[in-house]
Amino acid sequence: MRYIPTLERSPTDVSKADGEFASAVIEGLSLLQKELPCRYFYDARGSLLFEEITRLPEYYPTRTEAQILRVAACDLVADFSDGNLFVEFGSGSSLKTEILLDCVDADIVYVPIDVSETALADAVVRLALRYPSLEVRPLVANFSEMKGLPRDLSGRRAVGFFPGSTIGNLAPEEAEGLLAGFKRVLGKGGRLIIGVDLKKDEQTLTRAYDDDAGVTAAFNLNLLSRINRELGGTFDLSAFRHRAIYNSAAGRIEMHVVSDRAQDVRVCGRVFRFREGESIHTENSYKYTVPEFRDLAVRAGWQADRVWTDEGNRFSVHELV
Ligand code: AVI
Repeated sequence: MRYIPTLERSPTDVSKADGEFASAVIEGLSLLQKELPCRYFYDARGSLLFEEITRLPEYYPTRTEAQILRVAACDLVADFSDGNLFVEFGSGSSLKTEILLDCVDADIVYVPIDVSETALADAVVRLALRYPSLEVRPLVANFSEMKGLPRDLSGRRAVGFFPGSTIGNLAPEEAEGLLAGFKRVLGKGGRLIIGVDLKKDEQTLTRAYDDDAGVTAAFNLNLLSRINRELGGTFDLSAFRHRAIYNSAAGRIEMHVVSDRAQDVRVCGRVFRFREGESIHTENSYKYTVPEFRDLAVRAGWQADRVWTDEGNRFSVHELV
């Protein structure tokens, strides 16, 4: 049997999660424009629904990014040498990583970082079967709170990987902060490969977030089910509906759940009042032009190097050095 490395936990780990969820929900529902942080979408059902979203005909980002990575893979990993670290922030199932790993010749160490211990454990088993000689050092951590890599790994040349346009779920100022944080984690000589969804016609964008099969709607409303289950909430799911709009001034898709009628909802023993048509803003997904994203990366302290896009200019993969 092959040795499966033990999962390492960072000091900033996820155990304080429950109390944080309750306070984030109470705080968000108390605002004039009610809102909930999109990181809470990903409970077990939410993660499955998101996997389903990535396979929808309307949701082009995952498939387009994979196409780009397949074309660019060998160029992206050409300078990997023995002992280099390949650090994936929010690795999940590590599926896209395989596109790059297939091109790697050197003896590198793959460092997947994720808050989900089960996702990491599954990925480790799969990678062990597919790449028997690859050293994998999984790390259970919230990548946005990381200050550095474990001591025995620091000092090595590190290449970061942040696919999926997850950066788009942050406001530009926060995205800048995260990119600066990645730079610190990756250290001197670090490089970052990052996937970024591009601005495009409004119809393509809104359809990607409001699919015909209703999977994105279920994903969005699942957040209310999670609140009911974990925080004793009383959301009546049949009285809220999913809405996705493109806010062109801000350059982002916004997801909301909209109350069909005036109603009261209890969460953690508090009452939150909804007017008919009032919404909870649940997610932003910012879209960039290539120059806009390069400028943001420069503001975060990176130098923007090569960029790959698909023929339809839907998605981009940037190399920051
Ligand atoms: C994870 N993130 C990049 C997705 C996005 O496109 O913003 C989340 C998502 N929300 C609805 N569909 C997909």
